[in-house]
Amino acid sequence: MSRKSPKQSKQPRKLRSESWFGRGDRDALVHRSWMKNQGFPHDLFIGKPVIGICNTWSEVTPCNAHFRELAEHIKAGVLEAGGFPLEFPVMSTGEPVMRPTAMLYRNQVAMDVEESIRANPFDGVVLMMGCDKTTPALLMGAASVDLPTIGISGGPMLNGKFRGQDIGSGTMVWQVTEKLKTGEFTEEDMIEVESCQSRSAGHCMTMGTASTMASMVESLGMGLPTNAAIPAVDSRRKVLCRLVGRRIVEMVREDLRMSRILTKEALENAIMVNGAIGGSTNAVVHLLAIAGRLGVKLTLDDWDRLGRDMPCLVNLMPSGKYLMEDFYYAGGLPVVIRELGKFIHRKALTVNGRSLWENCKDAVNYNPKVITPIAKPFKPQGGIAVLRGNLAPDGAVLKPSAATPKLMKHKGRAVVFTDIDDLHKRIDDPTLDVKADDILVLQNCGPKGYPGFPEVGNFALPAKLLKKGVTDMVRISDARMSGTAYGTVVLHTSPEAAVGGPLALVKTGDTIELDVAKRKLVLHVSDEELAARRAKWKAPKPHTDRGWVKLYCDTVQQADKGVDLDFLVGSSGAGVGRPSH
Ligand code: FES
Repeated sequence: MSRKSPKQSKQPRKLRSESWFGRGDRDALVHRSWMKNQGFPHDLFIGKPVIGICNTWSEVTPCNAHFRELAEHIKAGVLEAGGFPLEFPVMSTGEPVMRPTAMLYRNQVAMDVEESIRANPFDGVVLMMGCDKTTPALLMGAASVDLPTIGISGGPMLNGKFRGQDIGSGTMVWQVTEKLKTGEFTEEDMIEVESCQSRSAGHCMTMGTASTMASMVESLGMGLPTNAAIPAVDSRRKVLCRLVGRRIVEMVREDLRMSRILTKEALENAIMVNGAIGGSTNAVVHLLAIAGRLGVKLTLDDWDRLGRDMPCLVNLMPSGKYLMEDFYYAGGLPVVIRELGKFIHRKALTVNGRSLWENCKDAVNYNPKVITPIAKPFKPQGGIAVLRGNLAPDGAVLKPSAATPKLMKHKGRAVVFTDIDDLHKRIDDPTLDVKADDILVLQNCGPKGYPGFPEVGNFALPAKLLKKGVTDMVRISDARMSGTAYGTVVLHTSPEAAVGGPLALVKTGDTIELDVAKRKLVLHVSDEELAARRAKWKAPKPHTDRGWVKLYCDTVQQADKGVDLDFLVGSSGAGVGRPSH
């Protein structure tokens, strides 16, 4: 891949915002006059790059609740560099609060972002991202407009501290859930954990989906170096915001658009980094969706090809022991990227105008216990395994670094739950016919089935087996799993049960074979029997006949395509055909 470095234009380029603010007619009067009610002097409207600051602040998105303060630092940076900052809100998805799942709204946020950018007089955009879905949603929406764009993540919370031990957000939730089931913890213990887990501003500080996606922003070249790991409350996060504000003004002057950064090479780099950090399986669907907006051909097979031999270098929960604060002090993502030097596309361009390699080649590892050298990795397999077979003709995924090694080759009897309500009703029933070597199957929790593709794939084991000391079982579903979770969990099985995928045809008592090394997921039922079951299968009733959920269910794509709405794939560009008056 060759790409020229961006150069300052010799001729000042006409700014997009000039068609709003730079005219001498009635429309310009309208555009400027009402804006002036905020106290903007007239000279701000003349020849200065207008920078949209896309803010996902919300008190019901607690991971992004500190964004108002960070936005002020971005604005200061924009002003310092001679730009005109204008902050605007978009819908925000709070992972721990929204029902039925924040993922149901990722594409709605992306639509909001896309249209908000296109409809307004922006020359460049800063994307403020944090909680899980806010990152892919903003990247997707902005990619469909393709202005000069830079991402800034809100940063992780400080390490959780509980009774003298570090605890990881999300990961502790799963551990507490199991301890409550076995009686080791009381409700009072649980309330104490809650307070100790979330003790500062920021997003989950495990290598969950938020930290993974912040690492994707950095490895894609869409964020400045160190974006992924600086804690939310560390003053260096504010400095980074200020630098982002300054840099986006330069990017507008260089016309350095998103499509020059988010190339196939950049996406491949991000996939490799995901393996090396033991990143979340959720990155699979998000990167597929982002690629779709840019017209870059990316498939599940790319994930397997690039991740298959990628060792996990980062010893962070849920796969390991440490947390994002430790990761930052150890040197953060630049150290990981430096370790991957022989694999990555070194020339991939980043938002600061330098290549990914130039940014990271001199990174220093200050703690090899947290970031292990590639010659002696923390875990041999970090990438995402893509499984195929008659149970998942379009693929399913599993995270080997979070799985139990001896279960990665396993044949067992299926115990089937037809949906989440059935699971909740029966999983802890002492009379449930289930053994430790069975395979638990959960149907109808995919993109259309739930609806919204929730993180229920790592559902808790039956209480009676937990009490006997069973810590993991093979679980298969068409759902996702939290990036903070762990277990031998097969996810994103496609096509999903609700559209008649083979997962819908599994019955309790069937035999299923999982062989991760061979990338196999096989339902040992004859084709004739499956055809007979299919003939009797009935599609579930629609969830609703109106509103966003209807639009979503009618048009959402399957997991192997990134779960974007079919009509949102691709780009509409930054042009607006008609004035408003
Ligand atoms: Fe927001 Fe984990 S709940 S990042």
